[in-house]
Amino acid sequence: MHVDDPAFWRAGAISTVSIMSVVLVMLTIDSLAAISPGGSNVPLYTVINQHIDYKFDDKRGNDMPVIRGAEPLFGKAVDAAAAEALIDKGKMVIQSRSCIDCHTFFGNGAYYAPDLTKAWLDPAWETWKIITGTKTREDAMVKFLMHPDKYRIWTRAMPNLDITQQEAEALVAYLKWMSAVDTNGFPANFGRMQQKQ
Ligand code: HEC
Repeated sequence: MHVDDPAFWRAGAISTVSIMSVVLVMLTIDSLAAISPGGSNVPLYTVINQHIDYKFDDKRGNDMPVIRGAEPLFGKAVDAAAAEALIDKGKMVIQSRSCIDCHTFFGNGAYYAPDLTKAWLDPAWETWKIITGTKTREDAMVKFLMHPDKYRIWTRAMPNLDITQQEAEALVAYLKWMSAVDTNGFPANFGRMQQKQ
């Protein structure tokens, strides 16, 4: 076969596409193992029953989640099925209100409002605890999500999206779970609550 023979280029194209298809399938399988709940980078939904913190990992050069100790959301530990149902509902609320029109999740979305990937850990909840008159971070989050216009602390205000108490609780579960995802350091230098533990 010669380089000016079209058959040469056809054979080249076919073999490249075939090999790359196999590589793509292998990468997909590898990614699924990393991004499924319980995979290498994504915790099980029951992580909402635990304490979530971050530690700088010198080898990787970024922050890594440290999940340890019991810290049940709303003070009530839930089983795997209940945790999944709650987080599923949280996802539905996020889709129904198009939070992504203003916020980013894992960097995807709009940049009008803060990235929510690590929002659970935001030290600002301490301020929201004071202004909402609540004792825990999760209660402050529920109150804020139900009445963001009433408890604004930033230059831009989040509108009231008619979020019910149950929807707000599901959102908080989703945000807590999401904060425990090992995102290889994204976002960098996010604010972190000072834990008393
Ligand atoms: C129209 C734009 C807009 C939409 C839609 C929106 N938000 Fe917001 N959100 C904001 C703005 C602006 C702030 C900052 C408000 C402040 O700090 O007072 C904010 C703040 C937040 C915070 C606090 C983040 C932090 O760590 O400081 C959370 C959590 C949040 N929003 C969740 C949501 C969720 C969940 C939805 C969807 C159900 C949503 N937002 C929809 C604009 C929006």
